Amino acid sequence: MNILMIAGEVAPYAKTGGLGEVMAALPKAVRRLGHDVRVFMPRYGAIDPQKYPLVPIGKTISLNVGGERTPVSFGASILAQEVPIYFLDSPFYFPSTQAAIYDPKRGNLPFYAFNLSVFRLLDTLDWIPDIIHVHDWHAGLIPNIIKYLPPTSRFAQIATVETIHNSAYVSIADQWAIPEEDRDCGEGVPPTDINKVQNINFLKRGIVNADIVTTVSEQYAKELLQPKTSHGLSDALIPRSRTFFGIRNGVDYSYWNPMFDTNLPVNYDFEIMHRKYDNKRALQHRLNLPILDVPILSMNSRITEQKGFSLVFEIFDELMKTGIQLVVVGDSTSGSFTEFLTDKMKLFPNQVAFRPYSEALGSLVYAGSDIFLMPSLFEPSGLGQLVSLRYGTIPVVRRTGGLADTISDYNQHNHTGNGFVFDEYTGEALAEAIKRALDLWGRKDLWWNLMSKSMALSYSWEIPAKKYVRIYKAAIKEKAGVTWSIPKRW
Ligand code: GLC
Repeated sequence: MNILMIAGEVAPYAKTGGLGEVMAALPKAVRRLGHDVRVFMPRYGAIDPQKYPLVPIGKTISLNVGGERTPVSFGASILAQEVPIYFLDSPFYFPSTQAAIYDPKRGNLPFYAFNLSVFRLLDTLDWIPDIIHVHDWHAGLIPNIIKYLPPTSRFAQIATVETIHNSAYVSIADQWAIPEEDRDCGEGVPPTDINKVQNINFLKRGIVNADIVTTVSEQYAKELLQPKTSHGLSDALIPRSRTFFGIRNGVDYSYWNPMFDTNLPVNYDFEIMHRKYDNKRALQHRLNLPILDVPILSMNSRITEQKGFSLVFEIFDELMKTGIQLVVVGDSTSGSFTEFLTDKMKLFPNQVAFRPYSEALGSLVYAGSDIFLMPSLFEPSGLGQLVSLRYGTIPVVRRTGGLADTISDYNQHNHTGNGFVFDEYTGEALAEAIKRALDLWGRKDLWWNLMSKSMALSYSWEIPAKKYVRIYKAAIKEKAGVTWSIPKRW
């Protein structure tokens, strides 16, 4: 099949979270199954042209966005040494002077233009995909546009798949700030009124109009069908339940592998696990924490409410009394969370370290900690819990979304399970799970066993990639009105 995947984030070019990381790995995994997979994204100002030179394709063209014409061009590169990737180069919509990927001031307009531009890209390439697979909200209008094309259009036969990575983000503009009567229901012809671009709910339009909708874990698929846990999307998803599936994300073990991770001072795997502790000492040294044999609990994620920081803050004093060290690495848009962490770091210099995210430090945190915290309020898939397993760092997670699908609670009688799981979104429930983890940490033989078992587990992209191929085949049939079936649990 010819498959075009479209996303707003693809690592290493642009990444604020898990989406970018998925986009670096999934296209490669599907391509290895023998399909012509290619990727399309905007060339943000933040993408350094020196570091990532692009080969221009075609001539500069004039893109019509609601009557406003601006010059755009397309560039190409190779992603992960295997996958052709194309970029929309638009000095007007994605100026080189804009440092941040997303600019709330400019709102949805740049992405509206990005969605329209894909058809010009396909013209330029003279390549018609069988499938356009859009990820999250960034390209959600494309299934909508394709659905309403006249049958004579050369693009009318393209089948579409929408994958929801996070229901909390549906566009750049804040949907909840839009008066209820102006909110986009997602139905009908694609919006063309340029003055109403801020009201477009891109993700909803993808959900309503794609031939098949997927999300990034089976449990999150169930949660999205519930009004309480869907950020307002359940109304659009319930009518789609026949054509809505959960597929868990994989881990790219060629990247996340403690044996080959070049960011680690000492490489290791489950056969030479003791070397993990050299990384632990390196982490303590690097963060100016005393080099002590105490458990290190870590968090490594975007610092948002989603990731459960308020629960950690709630039990913070209690945690400090146990003598542990807490390491937090991540970037934040919320001043109050960073303020809390900065204050506590000053108060407990021997126990708390908080640093902005960097790739090198991220790896060292996975390798050097003992326990990885993901007490998420919701977690569509989650990558950190899976990476931490491979690095021998035991996850403590809340039973939600992808965390529920991948982490099972340790049972002290028969020693099954690969982490510590709690249910209620309360500090008390988190504290109880941490306590069980710390107790086991104190019993070195059992802890060592759990670590080595966890490191040997595999959540690669192989199975999810095969599932996506089945989804693509089903989407083509769905589009053609031919019956198909995929079991809900597969
Ligand atoms: C979002 C979700 C995260 C998921 C990622 C990739 O960032 O919050 O749970 O792993 O998308 O699908």
